[in-house]
Amino acid sequence: MIKINENFLDLQDSYLFSTIAKKVAKFQEEYPDKKVIKLGIGDVTLPLANACVEAMKKAADDLSKKESFMGYGPEQGYDFLREKIVEVDFKSRGIDIEKDEIFVSDGAKCDTGNIVDIFAKNNKVAITDPVYPVYLDTNTMSGRSGKFNSKTGKYENIIYMPCTSENNFEPSFPSEVPDMIYLCLPNNPTGTVLTKEQLAKWVEYAKKNKSIILFDSAYEAFITDPNVPHSIYEIEGAKEVAIEFRSFSKTAGFTGVRCGYTVIPKALKGYTESGEEVTLNKLWNRRQCTKFNGASYITQRGAEAIYTEEGRKQIKENITYYQENAKIIRTGLQEVGFTVYGGVNAPYIWLKLPNGVKSWDFFDKLLNEVAVVGTPGVGFGPSGEGYFRLTAFGSKENTIEAMERIKKINV
Ligand code: MLT
Repeated sequence: MIKINENFLDLQDSYLFSTIAKKVAKFQEEYPDKKVIKLGIGDVTLPLANACVEAMKKAADDLSKKESFMGYGPEQGYDFLREKIVEVDFKSRGIDIEKDEIFVSDGAKCDTGNIVDIFAKNNKVAITDPVYPVYLDTNTMSGRSGKFNSKTGKYENIIYMPCTSENNFEPSFPSEVPDMIYLCLPNNPTGTVLTKEQLAKWVEYAKKNKSIILFDSAYEAFITDPNVPHSIYEIEGAKEVAIEFRSFSKTAGFTGVRCGYTVIPKALKGYTESGEEVTLNKLWNRRQCTKFNGASYITQRGAEAIYTEEGRKQIKENITYYQENAKIIRTGLQEVGFTVYGGVNAPYIWLKLPNGVKSWDFFDKLLNEVAVVGTPGVGFGPSGEGYFRLTAFGSKENTIEAMERIKKINV
């Protein structure tokens, strides 16, 4: 008899964004004439930068010729891309990362999910609450979360670090010391950030406790404040305690192309049950060589073009466009009296719902009354109840229209 991985039975019914997609599809079926504006999932809407498109066309052409054809590539990514990453994303910020500390992949969602493979099941995991659901779900699948308590909305073995307006979205050190600490900065879903000084305290904490920080900086391209770090490695000592995940999805519109990378410094160690040190870079390399055959050549050539002068200019224009949308949302909501967070160093705007309104009730109201889709805060964790997320990744026209529609509803 075939047995299943029963950890999957501990997962909540459906992945947040699939639940939303189903609700929206049902609404559209019922009201086919209504124009639905989607500011829910953080998916980009501008076309790819031309520099990337041209590079991918050329790469496809390379594959059509005998002399430049490529079969399997290196599991860790091609040198042409890893070298650019080292130079532009790190050296230019004074960070010394080596090429073999970079692992190119098919996106940060996969990497943040797959990373759990290299850690023991009995590690204590801390997540901020609210949180990007992938961190929690993948720890549940691999048996680290324990049972779900439907009364509290929490898993018994997970350490929740609430981030709400009460603590200005800065997580506090938990009373129980975690082994694995997930930090996403700029934050998804709240759009809030930590300064270098605030992040440095986490590096120090992880060092003291021999914990690891799993640092997701998928949204770093949206940072405008000079005192907000783009990489955790801007903090001294972070190479000994942190893995960093980077994505080209939001930076360069690669949500459909799929490419990102993970940095695992060689100085970073984990421990066996008997206390022996093991280099995590080696472990991840071993994992990738077995389970992954590398991101496609065409994709990586497209990603390489992000680092050309032309590519950088085009990408900057797209980011500026989304930043303007964020401003439209922030000011639009403030004008009608909402308290809003985020949207300055991030493409997400996190609004506090007035009068004790619940997240899913607001979701339904917005969809049914004005056909606008957002993401209910509670979908990201119990502390997200009473909040709601809007994304700046829509078109400018739709963003303006959505604000006009939201202004009409009574909350
Ligand atoms: C989000 O909306 O939170 C993101 O688009 C999801 C993702 O990056 O996978």
